[in-house]
Amino acid sequence: MKYGHFDDNAKEYVITTPATPLPWINYLGSNDFFSLISNTCGGYSFYKDAKLLRITRYRYNNIPADSNGKYYYINDNGVIWNPGTMPSGTPVDSYECRHGLGYSRFTSSKNQLQAELLAFVPTDEACEINCLKLKNNSSEEKHISLFSYVEFCLWNAMDDMTNFQRNLSIGEVEIEGSTVYHKTEYRERRKHYSFFSVNTKVQGIDTSRDSFLGQGQGNAFPEAVRNRKARNSVASGWYPIAAHQIELTLQPGEEKEFVFVLGYGENPADDKWETPGVIKKTDAVRILERFNTTEKAMEAFAKLKEYWNTLLERFTVSSGNEHINRMANIWNQYQCMVTFNMSRSASYYESGTGRGMGFRDSCQDLLGFVHLIPERARERILDIAATQFPDGSAYHQYQPLTKQGNMDVGSGFNDDPLWLIAAVAAYLKETGDYSILDEPVRFDCKPGTEVPLLEHLNRSFQFTVTHLGPHGLPLIGRADWNDCLNLNCFSSEPGESFQTTGPSEGPVAESVFIAGMFVKYGREYEEICKRTGHEKEAEEAEKAVKKVYDAVLDAGWDGEWFVRAYDAYSNKVGSSECEEGKIFIEPQGFCVMAGIGLEEGNAEKALDSVQKHLETKYGIMILQPAYTRYHLELGEVSSYPPGYKENAGIFCHNNPWISIAETVLGRGDRAFDVYRKICPSYIEDISEVHRTEPYVYSQMIAGADAPRFGEAKNSWLTGTAAWTFVNLSQALLGIQPGYDGLIVDPCLHGKFGDFSVKRRFRDAEYHIEIHKPDGVQKGVLWIEVDGEKIAGNQIPLIPGKKEYHVTVQMG
Ligand code: BGC
Ligand code: NOJ
Repeated sequence: MKYGHFDDNAKEYVITTPATPLPWINYLGSNDFFSLISNTCGGYSFYKDAKLLRITRYRYNNIPADSNGKYYYINDNGVIWNPGTMPSGTPVDSYECRHGLGYSRFTSSKNQLQAELLAFVPTDEACEINCLKLKNNSSEEKHISLFSYVEFCLWNAMDDMTNFQRNLSIGEVEIEGSTVYHKTEYRERRKHYSFFSVNTKVQGIDTSRDSFLGQGQGNAFPEAVRNRKARNSVASGWYPIAAHQIELTLQPGEEKEFVFVLGYGENPADDKWETPGVIKKTDAVRILERFNTTEKAMEAFAKLKEYWNTLLERFTVSSGNEHINRMANIWNQYQCMVTFNMSRSASYYESGTGRGMGFRDSCQDLLGFVHLIPERARERILDIAATQFPDGSAYHQYQPLTKQGNMDVGSGFNDDPLWLIAAVAAYLKETGDYSILDEPVRFDCKPGTEVPLLEHLNRSFQFTVTHLGPHGLPLIGRADWNDCLNLNCFSSEPGESFQTTGPSEGPVAESVFIAGMFVKYGREYEEICKRTGHEKEAEEAEKAVKKVYDAVLDAGWDGEWFVRAYDAYSNKVGSSECEEGKIFIEPQGFCVMAGIGLEEGNAEKALDSVQKHLETKYGIMILQPAYTRYHLELGEVSSYPPGYKENAGIFCHNNPWISIAETVLGRGDRAFDVYRKICPSYIEDISEVHRTEPYVYSQMIAGADAPRFGEAKNSWLTGTAAWTFVNLSQALLGIQPGYDGLIVDPCLHGKFGDFSVKRRFRDAEYHIEIHKPDGVQKGVLWIEVDGEKIAGNQIPLIPGKKEYHVTVQMG
C-alpha cells in the first residue's frame, strides 16, 4: 500500500494523507540553519548544532508521537484547523504534502478555504521562511483569524529537557512590532538570539505559552485561537513562545499571502546591546528586510531550487528503469547530503542531544557526497582528522559546533582510524588534489601538535599494524563497525553503556572485519604513498597488508564463509562452531570487496553462503541464527530481541557491501537483486509494512526472526545512503573515479538495457553512453572518447578539456 507517490519531474515525494504509518520527514537547510519537518508540520530548528543551539523545542516520547513544530492555526467561523492538520487534528477536506529538495509544501483546504504553506531555509541566511497563502474558494466573504505558533527551546536541548529548577525562571523575550526576539541567557554569557516575525502588522502577539494555550492546556486548540484573541502576554520565565494573530477578510476568490521568518542572530561579545537590556538586532533586521515580501521570499526559493538542481546534476543517469533514475538522480544523492549535514545527530530516531558527528560515520558518508561538494568534503576531512590521537586512534564522535572530540563516548573503536584512509582516498580520486596531504592537522585538536595530513594516514595505518592479536588479525577494541560487538565489555550491570564499559583495549579479541578493511584501505594507503614518492612506506605497507591477508585466509576462514571475530577467550564469533550467530554479513562483504579469496575461491563461497543463510525477501540479515539470550562475552549485539538491529536485523548499511562484492565477482543479476530488495523506490508499494519514508533508506529493517518482519526503523541518518550511492554509481552503473581518470566498468542485471550517465569529474563534464546487449552482466568490449578508441576502460585525463563524449560497448 502507498501513502503517496513520486513526482520525479518536480523532484518531490507527494504524500496524500496525513495518516502515514510514521511521521515522514524532510530536512530544510544546507549550511548552518537546519529544520526537520514532518508531513504534519512537526519538527524543530537549530543552528549548526542540534544539541547546543536548539532554537525550537521538540517533545520527545510524546503522545501523539510527533509533537511540536511550527504551527499555523486557522479559525474560520469557529472551525479551527491547521494546514498540515496537526496539532488540532481537525480533518481537512483535502491534503497534500510535497517533500522536495530542501523544502516542503503543504496544500490543504477546509470549508472552501485553501491554505498553501511553503517551508524552506534559504541558501545564505540563518533562517527558515514559511510562506503561507490563504485563498477563499467559496462564494461568501470569509473572516479568518490566523495564528502562528513556535515554542522556543532554551538553547541547550539536553539541559532544556532536564534542568527545570533553573530553566523555568530564565526565559526572556523582547517584542518589537511584529517580531518576537527570544533572548534567554543573553543577559549573561550568550551573544545569540532567535526571532520569529511576519511581514505584516499583527493584531496581537503572545509570548507566554500558558497565556496563549490556556492554563494547563495542550496545543491542539489554543485558548487564544478559540477566542480569536491573543493575550499580548510577555514571557517571564516558564515557557517562552512566539505567536502572532492576524485578522483577515477574504472576498470570494481572493487570496492573501504572508511571509513568516524564524531566524538566528549573533553579535560580537563586546557589542551585543543596543541600549542596556535591549539586544542589538543587526542580523535580524537584515534578514527580515531581505525577505519581507512574497517576491523576495520566492527569489530565495528559486535560488534554493537552483542550488539543488546544480548540485545533483553532477551525477545524472538516464536509463529505462525509473527506480534507478529517481534514486540515483534525486533521493539517494539528497540523502547523502543530509548525512553530510547531520551525520548521526538529528533525526526522528536520533535525538540531536547525544551523538554528534561520528568519526567512522562521517568518513563513510563522505564516500557519498565527495563528488557533490569536494571543497566541503576537504574541510570535513581536516576536521575529522584533527580529532585523531597521536597513536592513530580517534575520538568516536565530535560536536559540530565546537569540533572538539566528545569525551562521553571516548575512543577505542579500532576500525575508526582506517575510515580516515577510506575518506582521503575517495577525496583524492575525486579531485586529484594532493595538496590536502600537506595540510597541517592537529592531534586531539591541540594547538602545536600539527603534522601533515599524510602523517595522520600513516598513524591510522600503523594503529592496526601495532594492534594485532594472537591470530595476526586486528584487535577489535571496544567494537568495530558493528558497535554492538563489544568483545571486551563484559557488562552485567543494567544501564551500563555498552560503548564505554570495560577496557577499551583487550589483548585477545580480534576482528576479521577490520582485517578486510585493512587489506582494502591499506592498499589505498600504499597507493597514496607511492603517488607521493614514499616508496619505502609503500613497500612496508604492502608487506603488512599481505600478512593480514594471509591471516584472514588462515584464521579468518571457516570453511564456507569468513569468520566474524575472535572473542576475549579466543573463541570464534560467526562460525559454524558457534551455538548461535554462526554467520555474519560484514566480513563476507568487506573481505570480498578487498579482494580477499578471489583467486582462492573463498570469495564466491562466502557470497553463496550469504545468499543461503542470510537472505530474506526484504533484504539480507546481518547474522544468523539470531542470539536468543544475552551473551556476556559478546555485548550489545545479543541484547536486542531476535530480528532487531544488530541482532539479525536487515541492517541496510551492509547490504550494498554484498551487492558491490557481487559485482567484484561479475554477478550482475545477483548484485542488482541485492540492490533492489532494500531500495526505497522499489518497495514503495509495501509502505504499510516498511512504514518509514519510501524515499530514503533506513538503518534497519526487522529481520525474519522479528514479529514485525519487514518493518524499517531509524530512517535518514545511515551509512546506507553513502554506500548505496557508491554501489549504484560505481559498482552497478560502473562509473568509478580513479586516481588517473574516470573508469567505466558497469555490472548490472542481464535485463538492464542501454543507459547513459552525465557526470562532473575534475572540472569536466562526461557524457557517457553505454550499450549493454541483453543478457550481458559485466564486461567492457571497447570505449571511444570523442570518436577515438582508447586502450582499457579508464578515460585518460586531458588537461584543460572540459567535455568528454564517451561511448562504451559492453559484451
Ligand atoms: C546501536 C548501534 C549504534 C550505537 C551507537 C547502538 O545502540 O545499536 O547501531 O551504532 O548504539 O552508539
Ligand atoms: C550505527 C552507527 O552510526 C554506525 O557507526 C555503526 O557502524 C552501525 N550502527 C552498526 O553498529
